Amino acid sequence: MTGALLSIRNLTKEFPVRLGAFGERAATVHALDSLTIDIAEGETLSLVGESGCGKSTTGYCVLNIQRPTSGSVIYAGTDIAQLDDDGMRPFRRDLQIVFQDPYSTLNPRMPIGEALAEPILFHKLAPKSEIRDRLHQLLADVGLSERFASRYPHELSGGQRQRVAIARALACQPRFIVCDEAISALDVSVQAQILNLLLDLQQKYGLTYLFIAHDLAVVRHISDRVGVMYLGRLAELAPAAALFAQPLHPYTRALLSAVPSTDPRAARTRQRLQGEVPSPLAPPPGCRFHTRCPLARAQCRSDVPLLREVAPGHLVACHAVSSPTATNWEHNPA
Ligand SMILES: Nc1ncnc2c1ncn2[C@@H]1O[C@H](COP(=O)(O)OP(=O)(O)O)[C@@H](O)[C@H]1O
Ligand code: SF4
Ligand SMILES: [Mg+2]
Repeated sequence: MTGALLSIRNLTKEFPVRLGAFGERAATVHALDSLTIDIAEGETLSLVGESGCGKSTTGYCVLNIQRPTSGSVIYAGTDIAQLDDDGMRPFRRDLQIVFQDPYSTLNPRMPIGEALAEPILFHKLAPKSEIRDRLHQLLADVGLSERFASRYPHELSGGQRQRVAIARALACQPRFIVCDEAISALDVSVQAQILNLLLDLQQKYGLTYLFIAHDLAVVRHISDRVGVMYLGRLAELAPAAALFAQPLHPYTRALLSAVPSTDPRAARTRQRLQGEVPSPLAPPPGCRFHTRCPLARAQCRSDVPLLREVAPGHLVACHAVSSPTATNWEHNPA
């Protein structure tokens, strides 16, 4: 895709770790392996997958909170993965994150108004005389009244706290926000309200989102495109409508089978996900999903399946899938 606001190129992240009771063994966690994704301005790209598949690591590398082992993160034409703290300064304001737990960004001893004023003053986004108006605007943007400015985080409900965390990100006037499981801890009814809020804010300010969730059902209505990750790699990347209507990768199909559906065809193709995710300390060779895949055959155990475009904008990394209609290994297993 040309004109992407963010281009993630061959992003690889390995964590050196020490194992054993006394840390005597050196090992490597293979958290991300050659991830490549473009995100267009104004787009919502969601990443989904089971816990530990590398979603947060992707978000942290994008924000340069974590430095990739290799690969690049090109934001508005600059490879920010290579920048040190000084070099990152002009980009810090543009790139924001909302975490699952708002307490991680909100100081429990600081009233909400001060928490929102802090980034405005730090980035010199408004003179002191205008801070009050700016605060009220931010609170209104996230659906909170002015009286919340004097409250403390513990006086708020979970949904209200997450609204404040979003307002704090917005205070920086960002272009790009990573939402890392930003609604995962909330009640279902509150989740819908926060999703709608994020959509409204996107419209109003032209925001671009990298939306991270472990639950496919959550991303269905908010995403333009969805990337399904498995053990540090992309299994499938497609426009949201195509992914939900015609999931092609066996892993996506297994994940979707856990999502309640009224479609009888979905019930017919239901495949339960078997077994545990293998350790990222020693990911399986070939296709990393082969230890759990009902279609696995010899080639899958040795050859890494490349992410290929099998329909317009629909990319799949599976030896068994060459087009949306040619997923016929299941009828003819090796
Ligand atoms: N600082 C770290 N040191 C060692 N391993 C890590 C570190 N951060 C993440 N990991 C590992 O990297 C993998 C990907 O983690 P993460 O990106 O947090 O996954 P997700 O957000 O999809 O649950 C996991 O196996 C996790 O344990
Ligand atoms: S490449 Fe093989 S093991 Fe991997 S998802 Fe496709 S069929 Fe399954
Ligand atoms: Mg995570």
